[in-house]
Formats: sequence, structure tokens, C-alpha cells
Amino acid sequence: MSLRAVKGMKDILPDEISKWHRLERAFRERVEGYGFREARFPILEPTELFVRSIGETTDIVEKEMYTFTDKSGKDGRDGKSLTLRPEGTASAVRAYVQHSVQGREPVTKWYYIGPMYRRERPAKGRYRQFYQAGIEAFGDPGPYIDAEVIDMVVGFVASLGITEVEVLVNSIGGPETRTKYTADLLAYLEPYRTELCEDCQRRMDANPLRVLDCKVPRCAEIAESAPSLPDSLTDDDRTHFEGMTNALEKLGTPYRLDGSLVRGLDYYTRTLFEVVGKGDGLGAQNALLGGGRYDNMVKSLGGPDTPAIGFAMGLERLLMAMPEENQGGHVDVFVIAAQPSVRAEAALLSRELRNAGIRVESDLRGGSLKSQLRRADKMNTRLAMILGESEVAAGSVQVKDLEAKSQETVFRNELVDRTRTLLGA
Ligand code: HAM
Repeated sequence: MSLRAVKGMKDILPDEISKWHRLERAFRERVEGYGFREARFPILEPTELFVRSIGETTDIVEKEMYTFTDKSGKDGRDGKSLTLRPEGTASAVRAYVQHSVQGREPVTKWYYIGPMYRRERPAKGRYRQFYQAGIEAFGDPGPYIDAEVIDMVVGFVASLGITEVEVLVNSIGGPETRTKYTADLLAYLEPYRTELCEDCQRRMDANPLRVLDCKVPRCAEIAESAPSLPDSLTDDDRTHFEGMTNALEKLGTPYRLDGSLVRGLDYYTRTLFEVVGKGDGLGAQNALLGGGRYDNMVKSLGGPDTPAIGFAMGLERLLMAMPEENQGGHVDVFVIAAQPSVRAEAALLSRELRNAGIRVESDLRGGSLKSQLRRADKMNTRLAMILGESEVAAGSVQVKDLEAKSQETVFRNELVDRTRTLLGA
């Protein structure tokens, strides 16, 4: 049997790539406009990094990580446990601490784009290798930066033409709120213990907040009447949350308060948010992006006490939600040698255009004029340039506009300028 890609991991072939490029370019432009700079982190990290940050009792760490023991030493024993990164925040924090970035700048704003790995059950919009684009901002306790980040991402999603979305925000407060709320939640859940699914019964002992996240219908029903997180915030946490929502109101950013939003990673404190797609194209995996504040993670990974906030979005899901747009061909001009005797001249012509920044393809195998024109058409190029012996003698080229269905003779010394005009550059 022929070999196939690993289950849940997809090839992205050139026909799809222009949409990816468009999305990645738009993301870079947007976040750079807010002062974020790109950072790139390794795909492999020590397993301990994710266990300590994402949390031992989360689905990601319990079930979904690709972990293996590295070889080490001559005998291959005592290797370190390594994991393919399931997300980017932990790596960003590790790098921030490792390079003592905090000593160099009071506020640090990074962004990243790259593949992440989670061994989830593959479904539409849910893969085992998927791409995230995300940002992390260190050193600002908020709440204004929280609002700015949410406003930035909401504006970004709208700029992609994705209009059917809902922006959910919540606060889970800091450690004091968490301790108090967890106790209230446990007291509420205890009478229902045996009605909860097995996972949730375990979660009650290990990490009760996760029960609020459970998709099993009876668990979700029970969670619905659980004590409200927003009502349990300490005064400081409430002031922070209101500062953020007030700032969102001022910015005119649409949002909905969702007291049950807890998100599946343990490192969060205070602000949480998610943008959920409402369009038909997405199916059940409709979380386009999610993020929040993680004020204790830098310290807990050995760095200085540094507040932080960030988000990440799933590129595959955004691509599914984005409207189609005709991008034209991947080259602008198809150069055709009408006779074998002018092939060398045609190559010179192609090079001249390419040096001027024009994307050019030609069929170096030759062939009839008709078959070469057909290839140009198939490639969806805008222009075909035909060079025959008479054109070479006259120092000209026949330029066919395949879109406007017109043809003209252009002299070689005017060709680059005329091509640019025709291409609308
Ligand atoms: P997350 O909610 O786990 O957060 O993932 C963020 C986004 O990645 C999701 O909203 C979804 O669009 C996409 N995603 C997650 N899993 C998959 C999958 N299996 N297949 C396709 N797409 C997926 C985080 O990862 C946090 N690191 C976000 C963050 C950054 N919080 C603070 N800073």
C-alpha cells in the first residue's frame, strides 16, 4: 500500500496556498501595526514545560500530547522526555524567561505563526497538526491592553470578511477568586457527583473548573446552574474586569459576557475571551480563536513576577470561515516562443520581465502556439506574450490580454512599462 500522511495531519498544496499567504500577510500587517514583533520557537520542548504551564489535569496534557523519550548518551538511555508543542504560549514564556527579556524592556510584544500538535479525534476543523497565529504581551497588567488586544483581534477577523461571529469575554479572577470559587463550585457539585460523567467525577477532585467545560449533555446541564464566576470575583478582580469591559465599550468593540467561559488551559487568570464563528461552514469546531491573561505563568516558570496576556487563532478554521476571493493565476505573464529558432530570445525576454519584478512562466518544452496558449489559459495568467521570428526582427512582441481578449504589438523598449500598465501595477 502506498504511504499516506499521518492521521489528522494534512498536506497543503499550492492550489490552496494563496489563501494561506493572504491570511498570514494580513495577520502580520495587523499585529505589527500594534507593535508586535515576530518570534520563532522550537517545535520540540521539554515535556515538563507543558505539564507545569498548561496543567497536569487538562485534556491537552492528560491525553493529547505527542511525547517521546529522546536518545541521550552513547547507550541511548536516560533520555529526556520531549513533546511536540500543543500550543505557543508556554514556549513564549520559556523563551522570555530564558533570555531575561524583562531586563531589557518593560513591555514585550511578540507574535508567532506555526504548527501545533494535539492528538485529538480528527474532525472537520480539528486536526492533529494545525496552525496557530498568536500574540503574547508581557509586562502590562491591564486592563486597557486587554481591551486593545480584543479590539485588535475582532477588527482583524472582520477585515477578513468574516462577519458572523460572537465575541465572548469573562474573568476567572486571580488565585484568591479561584480558591473561593472552587470551594463554592464543589459545594454545588457534590450532590450531583454520581450523575456526572466519569471524567468530571475525576475533575471534581483534580480540577473542578474543568467540569464547566464538559461537553457531555448531563454535565453541561448541571454546570448551567452552577454558581456564577463573575459574581464571585474579588473587588480587585472585579475592578479589573470592569475596566476592561468599559474600555471595550469606549472602543465600540462588540462582545458578550459569558460567565461560563473557562477555557481548557490552567494558566489563565482574570480576562478570558474567545471569538466563535456562527456561519454554517465551520461545523462543531467553531472556536476561531481564544486567549486570556496569565499573570502567574512567568513567575511559576522561574522568571520575575510579570503579568501577561495573549491569544491564538486556528488558521484552518479562519480559512474555512473566510469568503472565497478570486486571486488570479500564480504568474502574470506566459511567454511563448512561436518557433524553436526564437527560444533563446524568448528566454531573454522572460528574464528581462522577471528582473523587473513580473512573474513569468513559459513552457520550455516548446510545442505549438495553440497548445502553449492553452497552457497560459489554464494557468490563469493575465497576459500571453508571443515572440516569433518577425517580432524578433522588428524588436517587438505580440501581447495578448487573456482577460480583456485583446491583442497589441509592443516594442521591446516599452515592454516592461506597458506590461505594468496592463497588469494594473
Ligand atoms: P486554544 O484555545 O487551545 O488556546 O487554541 C487556540 C485556537 O487554536 C482555537 O481557538 C482553535 O481555533 C485552534 N485550535 C486548537 N486546537 C485545534 C485543533 N486540534 N485543530 C485545529 N485548530 C485548533 C491556546 O492554544 C492558547 N495558547 C491561546 C493563548 C495565547 N492564550 C494566551 N495566549
